Amino acid sequence: MKKEKNDLMEKIVSLAKRRGFVYLSSEIYGGFASIYDYGPYGVELANNIKDFWWKEMVQLREDIVGLDSAIFMNPRIWEASGHVAGFSDPLTECKNCHARFRMDHLLEEIKVQADEKMTEDEINKIFKENIEKIACPSCGKKDFAEGRKFNLLVKSNLGNITDNPSENPAYLRGETCQGIYVNFKNVLDSVRVKIPFGIAQIGKAFRNEITARQFIFRTREFEQMEMQYFLDPEDEMKEYEKLKKARWDYYLKLGLNEKNLKWHKHEKLVFYAKAAYDIEYRFPFGFGELEGVHARGDYDLSQHAKFSGKDLSYTEPKTGKKFIPHIIESSVGVGRTVLAVLTEAYMEEKIDGGERVVMKFPKNLAPIKIAVFPLLRNKPELVKYAQEIFNDLKEDFMCEFDDNGNIGKRYRRQDEIGTPYCVTVDFDTLEEDTATIRDRDTMEQKRIKITDLKRFFVNNL
Ligand code: GAP
Repeated sequence: MKKEKNDLMEKIVSLAKRRGFVYLSSEIYGGFASIYDYGPYGVELANNIKDFWWKEMVQLREDIVGLDSAIFMNPRIWEASGHVAGFSDPLTECKNCHARFRMDHLLEEIKVQADEKMTEDEINKIFKENIEKIACPSCGKKDFAEGRKFNLLVKSNLGNITDNPSENPAYLRGETCQGIYVNFKNVLDSVRVKIPFGIAQIGKAFRNEITARQFIFRTREFEQMEMQYFLDPEDEMKEYEKLKKARWDYYLKLGLNEKNLKWHKHEKLVFYAKAAYDIEYRFPFGFGELEGVHARGDYDLSQHAKFSGKDLSYTEPKTGKKFIPHIIESSVGVGRTVLAVLTEAYMEEKIDGGERVVMKFPKNLAPIKIAVFPLLRNKPELVKYAQEIFNDLKEDFMCEFDDNGNIGKRYRRQDEIGTPYCVTVDFDTLEEDTATIRDRDTMEQKRIKITDLKRFFVNNL
């Protein structure tokens, strides 16, 4: 039975907490708005997603190399990029309780069309037209201030002896790709790459998002997986179409169902962009942006050349043709991918005598690959044998040993964390050196020789 959509988000949030995937940050202190921590299974899932992305983006591509640039950068970078002047959201404040909201989100509540892709002036105009209809989600009063722009860059006082982050602030990066742009020349000069080539990186980014919304979909601290591809201007649109196709295929390979994915075309482009599409996923609350695939022209390198005074042009070795490379980018959040993978995996199934919740993760993404159980915990010979199997398998696979509760409860727990296989050591194991393997999806069990166990998992995981 497929999940029912209406309360799916609540179920996912509850399972994520109950089963150690995602916790509210600083929970014992009442939390910290829009920040989340990944628990023991969440960090495994996120790492598996990052490994998968890195393999597809770097390991399997001869034209893309990796990078890990620092979170802190010279503040001039954020002036060059346009973030200091223009990286803002449309903010309004309730005059009664002083709670702050994004105007486009308040408009959504009264079903007035305003999405993230509209300009702030457009949103402000629609907001003014509807201001009398909009009630504050915190106190219920209909008394909002006029909108204003709110800059999303997070400031720090790093290296600043005044303690005041507003004076000469060092910013926590608002996106990881600026670290890629400013290392373009370093990579070109130190690694054997020729245009077209890409630089990929995974790392934290920080944004002062106005309101906490939708669990890990929108957070103030998050991780991005970004790839910036540097090319000859003449090849930009041809390569852009190739990148769009590669990114769509990536999500199918990741295990997302094609019917839950769609393209969103940006109708209004920023002045320098050549094209902009997002890949959207059908989250429990509806379609939302998962990844941006954008053709950015020469804006990024031109700006950094202007602000740094350094020549960031490229000369074609064979023809001598000189140009500022154009850039196409792929940019996706780890947290949003985790939420998409959790949504896709969540299943409720009727089984003999009840119902089970099972996370049907693709095997490569499952946090734990194999759980090993002794049938009974008070039989030392079973426990010892199971422990030996566990110790052997954990060398090659992420495994878990469990001798708590009865076997049925152990299966249910492993189903809820999406473990593809459970191995049970019983009395026949002691007699014939065999164990049962239980398949998460079919729940079928079969006996297998202990000596064949590892080969089975090598072939099936
Ligand atoms: N370099 C381009 C860039 O950063 P973006 O559309 O602002 O573009 C790219 O962000 C991706 O990063 C988004 O598609 C989303 O997956 C993720 N992302 C952005 N803001 C986020 C937030 N506040 N919380 C979680 N993920 C976020």
